[in-house]
Amino acid sequence: MTKKISAGILGMGHYAPPKTLTNFDLEKIVDTNDAWIVERTGIKERHIAADGQPMSELAYKAAVAALDEAAVRAEDLDMVIVATLTGDRIIPSTASVLQDRLGAKKAAAFDLSAACSGFNYASVIACNFIENGAYKNILVIGAETLSKYVDYTDRNTCILFGDGAGAAVYGQVEDGLGLISFDLGSDGSGGDVLDIPGGGSLHPPTHQTLDAGLQYIHMDGKAVYRFAVKVMGKTVLSALNKIGMTESDIDWLVPHQANIRIIEAAAKRLNMPMERVIVNIARYGNMSAASIPIALSEAEKDNRFKKGDVVALSGFGAGLTWSSCIMKWAR
Ligand code: UT7
Repeated sequence: MTKKISAGILGMGHYAPPKTLTNFDLEKIVDTNDAWIVERTGIKERHIAADGQPMSELAYKAAVAALDEAAVRAEDLDMVIVATLTGDRIIPSTASVLQDRLGAKKAAAFDLSAACSGFNYASVIACNFIENGAYKNILVIGAETLSKYVDYTDRNTCILFGDGAGAAVYGQVEDGLGLISFDLGSDGSGGDVLDIPGGGSLHPPTHQTLDAGLQYIHMDGKAVYRFAVKVMGKTVLSALNKIGMTESDIDWLVPHQANIRIIEAAAKRLNMPMERVIVNIARYGNMSAASIPIALSEAEKDNRFKKGDVVALSGFGAGLTWSSCIMKWAR
């Protein structure tokens, strides 16, 4: 049997647009207040893309930084995967836009739709191509401009979401390091609790769908909350179980940044002290597919991880989907 190649992160980058929307700014727009938002979500501000600034611009900046840190040239990329629900256009994929803009001439490119689980899903795909020897260098980006899909008259959703991009270059790493396990899952029966109903083939854009606000994020917050608290810890335990590890083997938890109370519940389930949990939700809010890679990239740049540390990424989101990646930090 041929030995599997170990695949992991060679370099990371992230970018968020400079404009911020604070809780105090939101107080002026909808019936909400800073104290409620901080207490119920942990969010203080979010970054917002400029008018006319598409998601690919944020993703491009994160990608350039990741390639630079990895010391991989764009022309040596074999594949570009963009995890997103807010691509520039329905077609072409934003991955193809970036493949061209980066000069990744030989790279295959596609977008991946798994909402907030997208970065983990894309990372598993990338690592599998590298582990089986088919490809050497794969760029994975999680990027969103959710502000363009938020109804700023709906206080149930507009307080939560922000814009940003995080990118990772995956390639061969030392034996035994990199992605060592994962768990991916979906329960489509929960599809209606978090969706953007309009704009697709179910409700193609018309004056009526726009008037009804179907182009915006719709969410049953309580249902998503219950689901998240249930799956965030469970998906990590499933991935650990596959390789004979337990929660006591984890050095760091990098959770999807949706709500501080959900993160704390996951940490509790995994017996992780909060000092070992990467949390940046106060500064960014929920950036769907961009949340995990930005948190990971920031933590890496703060030198929080040592080579060989076990880092668990845990996500959940629309679909409904859940996902976890267990990595032995390779840098
Ligand atoms: O990537 C996945 C995306 N989504 C999520 O992860 C969302 C998960 N869900 C959540 O994070 C929480 O359910 C929310 C933050 C959305 C809501 O928090 P909650 O603790 O579930 O609040 P609630 O909906 O039960 O509302 C409690 C109260 C209600 O008032 P009454 O009925 O008790 O008088 C709401 O009307 O708070 C009120 N409320 C607000 N008040 C001020 C709801 N939203 C707001 C608001 N500002 N923005």
